[in-house]
Amino acid sequence: MTECTNGQTSLNTHDETMITKSIKKICCIGAGYVGGPTMAMIASRCKHIQVHVVDINQERINAWNSDELPIYEPGLQQIVSDARGENLTFSTRVEEAIQESDMIFISVNTPTKTFGIGNGRASNLEYVEKCARVIAENSDGHKIVVEKSTLPVRTAEAVQRILISSGKPGATFDVLSNPEFLAEGTAIEDLEDPDRVLIGGDSEQAIQCLVDVYGTWVSREKIITTNLWSSELSKLTANAFLAQRVSSINAISALCEATGANIEEVARAIGTDSRIGPKFLKASVGFGGSCFQKDILNLVYLCEHFGLPEVAEYWYQVVRMNDFQKRRFSTRIVRHMFNTVSDKKIAMLGFAFKKDTNDTRESAAIYVCRDLIQERARVTIYDPKVNLEQIRHDLKTLMANGQGELSAHDRNLIDNNVRIAHSAEEAAQNAHAIALMTEWEEFTKVDFEQIYTSMKKPAFLFDGRNLLDRDMLMDIGFEVHSIGKC
Ligand code: UDX
Ligand code: ADP
Repeated sequence: MTECTNGQTSLNTHDETMITKSIKKICCIGAGYVGGPTMAMIASRCKHIQVHVVDINQERINAWNSDELPIYEPGLQQIVSDARGENLTFSTRVEEAIQESDMIFISVNTPTKTFGIGNGRASNLEYVEKCARVIAENSDGHKIVVEKSTLPVRTAEAVQRILISSGKPGATFDVLSNPEFLAEGTAIEDLEDPDRVLIGGDSEQAIQCLVDVYGTWVSREKIITTNLWSSELSKLTANAFLAQRVSSINAISALCEATGANIEEVARAIGTDSRIGPKFLKASVGFGGSCFQKDILNLVYLCEHFGLPEVAEYWYQVVRMNDFQKRRFSTRIVRHMFNTVSDKKIAMLGFAFKKDTNDTRESAAIYVCRDLIQERARVTIYDPKVNLEQIRHDLKTLMANGQGELSAHDRNLIDNNVRIAHSAEEAAQNAHAIALMTEWEEFTKVDFEQIYTSMKKPAFLFDGRNLLDRDMLMDIGFEVHSIGKC
């Protein structure tokens, strides 16, 4: 029997010497949107465990050690401040943290490849592989390595092989998959009370050690254990199903606009069917975020790789529909504004991919902004948590060619036609139109009567989230265009 973290014992199914006796020190490589909040929650709930979060990005680590955290997430600041200096540390001392820890989480970025084999589909595993190598070089005795980053199926196998082949003599490893299901904006709630925790692995002992970490605050029935590949595939599948629901409702929104049906009425009507359920049926300008598109593309790549082109095509359509929805939104803006937005000011409200986060990865706003500036519009953006530097960086990345080069023409457009404002009112001043991109609560409290008077007429409002009171806006005088409504 092996003693695990909270004093409980677990069955030993393989060599006793292979496993650490109890988890006292955890390290997490990668202090991002997943690693930071997850480790803060573990530290806050497991006072008996020292948690060390490491990253190669010094600036990010400095921010984690300050009062201005690098990521915005409701409730995060409080749990970080409470645990920091006690059992939660942030540093760039990657090697030292690995040497001292019993359990190492890999939580680094795995973006979609933009080059070579699998370009535009497969995940770039460069950072994961580098982590595996640095773990191997700095490990003595036994370590449990936990994959936290979303990874293609069978990555654990590759990680395991690197650890075994590059590790020091006597070093042993167990690899677990523990995909993260938190959604940004509600990360703390999701971590505090998850629908489930999923742990995949071959070693019952290692699984038990991680079960005991989560078991400190999550009930055991919610902790699902599987084999490695099932765990890895479940993460991709969960995100593919969620994204598919958004693309499905968005597809119907296009039909609603064409036929006069109302997407919110349709969503309510179908959502009351208990087999369908009401969640994730909110039509929008298109889904964004670091996971949905990347995970579906990963799934598509896997299916192609395993000779399943029909399955690959089926899932790829979810991404295609999302691209269609984003493009449809910009086209609608241009079409309604007399087929030209050239030299017109458009106020963009929101740039983050959803409310309550400063994350802009794959945000629909980047694509719509690109389309509008290519039509020579002047776009002024207000987002409560996103700055101009990030916005320009996102646009430059999107508009660059395959080699990462930006034409002088596009650089000029980004530098000259994109501005930021510090409030919705300032953004809308003298604007010809408002495009609402992110469902920030504060946009529902804006004084639209005052905004209307400050805008050019006719004053257009394109609500990409169906957030605002359409009747009230039309009464004020706005020409309102919502998603899935004529
Ligand atoms: C998602 C998964 O929900 C989470 O479990 C996983 O760990 C990471 O990926 P996240 O991307 O943070 O989380 O946010 P989510 O709430 O899923 O929203 C993703 C995108 O879909 C956002 O752009 C959101 O605005 C959009 N969306 C969501 C809709 O347009 N309509 C909906 O009904 C729901
Ligand atoms: P996620 O949303 O998955 O958390 P992020 O991009 O927010 O992704 O965070 C990933 C973090 O991993 C980044 O801060 C990056 O600097 C860090 N990182 C990448 N490679 C390494 C590495 N080899 N060692 C330490 N940190 C790394």
